[in-house]
Amino acid sequence: MMERSFVMLKPGVLQRRIAGEIIGRLERKGLRIIGLKMLRIDRPLAEAHYAEHRGKGFYGQLIEYTISGPVLAMVLEGEAAIRRIRRLAGPTDVEESLPGTIRGDFAANTRLNIIHASDSPESAGGEIGRFFQAGELCPWEDGNAPWF
Ligand code: PPS
Repeated sequence: MMERSFVMLKPGVLQRRIAGEIIGRLERKGLRIIGLKMLRIDRPLAEAHYAEHRGKGFYGQLIEYTISGPVLAMVLEGEAAIRRIRRLAGPTDVEESLPGTIRGDFAANTRLNIIHASDSPESAGGEIGRFFQAGELCPWEDGNAPWF
């Protein structure tokens, strides 16, 4: 099923100059970038985005990290995009994320996670709406679709 997912490359990605590498992996899987912006997330937006984690031990650190520097926010479209992106990202826990996944290859610290990806169509819809206006998305015809 064709899906859209919200992906955020967190502050450490720009710090480490690995944005191109990570975006390249998403593109190589055939996903289409239909929204992309760089922004500095403010505290209210970070708290809204991570509202479901309020009260967890890591919540404070998660918010501070998210607002610590610019992020790249993206909307990606593709067949089973939500599951495919989560598999490309690998598990959150760096001890569990295997080489070959984005986290397995680049994340050495669970607290400084490098990518957020929607975990369901419902959360994708909410997250896309929180970060993008409808007019900021640019869907496009994919001439390579049969190859993916
Ligand atoms: S949970 O409890 O299973 O729902 O948590 P999880 O889905 O693994 O993680 C939710 C987000 O919290 C981040 N996280 C952390 N941040 C800081 N420190 C620690 N220890 C930590 N553990 C988890 C994790 O990166 C998830 O962020 P996103 O942006 O959704 O990937």
